[in-house]
Amino acid sequence: MSLGTLFSPQDLYLAWEREPWSSQEVDLAADAAAWPALEASERDAILWALSSLIVAEERITTQFTGLVLAADDEEETSYLATQQVDEAKHLQFYARFQNEVVADPAAIAAHVERAREHLGDPFRTIFDEALVQAHEKLVADPRDRGAKVEFVTTYHQVIEGTLGTTAFNFITNYLNEHELLPGFVAGYRRIARDEQRHVAYGTGFLRAAVADDPAMGEAVRATLLRLLPAVAQALEPPSQDGGGPAFGIDPAEVRAFALDGLTRRLNVIGVSL
Ligand SMILES: [Fe+2]
Ligand SMILES: [Fe+2]
Repeated sequence: MSLGTLFSPQDLYLAWEREPWSSQEVDLAADAAAWPALEASERDAILWALSSLIVAEERITTQFTGLVLAADDEEETSYLATQQVDEAKHLQFYARFQNEVVADPAAIAAHVERAREHLGDPFRTIFDEALVQAHEKLVADPRDRGAKVEFVTTYHQVIEGTLGTTAFNFITNYLNEHELLPGFVAGYRRIARDEQRHVAYGTGFLRAAVADDPAMGEAVRATLLRLLPAVAQALEPPSQDGGGPAFGIDPAEVRAFALDGLTRRLNVIGVSL
């Protein structure tokens, strides 16, 4: 599912039917056996990544209904219903990983609360302020085009397209190179495949909205410019006890990767920063 081809909500709905998977069936036995023997610094880095993922999925699962109300036709409603189920499934997978591998069983709310202790202010700015406010605005008036554009820019472009895609690239590269947590990587890959559909929806919607009304391009731009400082900070990997950044990641490389993907999608949408 590349950006070169645009997919309609109906195409994306049908793709969802063809790509089913279960969060409960991914095999986590090897991960559970290996977890206690990981280096403490490695475990800390993975727990930080997992915390970001759990909090992000909780937010994007619960701050979504307004977009379903804002659908323009039944095909879009069908697609959006699948996306909401996907996000709940992703949250279930990360909670299950905590339960069975980190061996820290709890209700999902307790996982989310604990995960929040690992995260800083940029996360709150994006997920608790920008996303929540954009969602409230859309719920208040689902027919407000500007509100839908601002919401999809925040949710699909900033959170899923930029933060999500970048995190997936660097975290799975590291785990694969070090041959760590194959079950986690398998589940995360399924999640990333779902996310490709979600980002494709967001890009297609914004492109059509901007083509219909050029003022919407300004709404996309203004939303991005407002959020980019927090995005850059949220992508900064925490430093490990030994000094360097977690996963040995070069922060400049992370920012370049994130900006490159965002720029490519903005070209499709017809907006420049
Ligand atoms: Fe997700
Ligand atoms: Fe998603």
